[in-house]
Amino acid sequence: MSDFPSDFIWGVSTAAYQIEGAVDDGKGPSIWDTFAHEPGRIRDGTSGDVACDHLRRMDEDLDLLADLGVGAYRFSTAWTRLFPEGGGRLRRQGLDLYERLVDGLLARGIAPWLCLYHWDLPQALQDRGGWASRDTALYFADYAAAVGEHLGDRLDHVLMLNEPNVHAVLGHLLGVHAPGSTDLVTFRDAVHHLNLATGLGLARLRDLGGPARLGTVLNLQPVVPAGDGEDDQRAAELLDAVWNRWVLDPLLRGRYPETGEALLAGLDVDADLPLIHQPIDVLGVNFYTRAQVRASLESPVGLELVPPSDASETTAMGWEVVPEALLAQLQELKDDYGNPPVVITENGSAYPDPAPSGGRVEDPQRVRYLARHLQAVGQAIARGCDVRGYFAWTLVDNFEWAEGFTRRFGLVHLDLQTLRRTPKRSFDAYAAVVRGTAPEALLEPT
Ligand code: FCB
Repeated sequence: MSDFPSDFIWGVSTAAYQIEGAVDDGKGPSIWDTFAHEPGRIRDGTSGDVACDHLRRMDEDLDLLADLGVGAYRFSTAWTRLFPEGGGRLRRQGLDLYERLVDGLLARGIAPWLCLYHWDLPQALQDRGGWASRDTALYFADYAAAVGEHLGDRLDHVLMLNEPNVHAVLGHLLGVHAPGSTDLVTFRDAVHHLNLATGLGLARLRDLGGPARLGTVLNLQPVVPAGDGEDDQRAAELLDAVWNRWVLDPLLRGRYPETGEALLAGLDVDADLPLIHQPIDVLGVNFYTRAQVRASLESPVGLELVPPSDASETTAMGWEVVPEALLAQLQELKDDYGNPPVVITENGSAYPDPAPSGGRVEDPQRVRYLARHLQAVGQAIARGCDVRGYFAWTLVDNFEWAEGFTRRFGLVHLDLQTLRRTPKRSFDAYAAVVRGTAPEALLEPT
């Protein structure tokens, strides 16, 4: 039976652009505002203009969190609400919004975990080169310090950047996310400047002092070779380096891994590495699946992803359901990275849910996904991995980036016409776990 320590942190995660609604209050455009409005970018032609209309329905959403019983809530601030152009003078109206959110959380006994950047770079900074430019990391550090100065005393945790690796790969190499770049040099520079921003932000907030603990959020996934051959093995090592270790190693070890070094050639990183290698109080790990890869001569980087076999269980994203990979990932952090304090800052699943009926949505697959991943977390803790908390992705179905509203990850169903919220069975299941039910119990037939 999984046994979680009594001080284990139970939470839920969201991201600004996916839920807030653009609310025309003088906010500046971000790269996601731009990208989502370009024809053909988003599967269903939607954008985050309305999203869950969370800013206008904040109290209702906060009450849902209270009903769920979680002790922590991870949200992100939209940089462009605070600094429409990326820098300059802080906008009071933007700050008011997040003060209202933070105070609403504290009033309900929920610890605010603020993530500074969930992919919505100010368009004004993109116009000056975006993450390909070193200056963007400096702007980020100023923005981090401003948030720390104004809200720091009320925050439980401040997290730097959400999944810089996903942002770099999907947004700067594959071009399927904002800003839509497909250039290898831009990608390489973006990776490094995102790492630099993490380090500079951490250092600035550390210097400020204050009670909030500091960390950042990485998407980690074990990479396995599709075949037994040495070339597939090498492809797996390369993807592991580029996906996982390019963000883990500079932060936790102060260097880039040797594998994949050729791809970084031309970038002068030596002076920056000590700036990136900062102490953290918590490492946020977002986990969804693993990657399978094979060598490929057609691909410019020499490898290609292999989709899960027909026999594997997958979610509506096409992602393989592999809770054992979460256990393996946590074990690796323990064995290879000195067992840093970890919080699972995202984990969840999309399924084509049925319509609400009788005030609930039946979503047994999501309940199962949740239970099995929580079991894996319990096993990791039993093996001595320093895992301190778990945040479910996500509260309410929301704008799933390039997939628009076609993929539902919420514990709460969103009616796309009325924006009405209806809890799913997974909401009840998670609420039970938060109150002490073992995840195994969720797997028993009722
Ligand atoms: C993660 C993102 C999050 C959400 C989930 C499904 O990579 O951080 O915003 O889209 O995937």
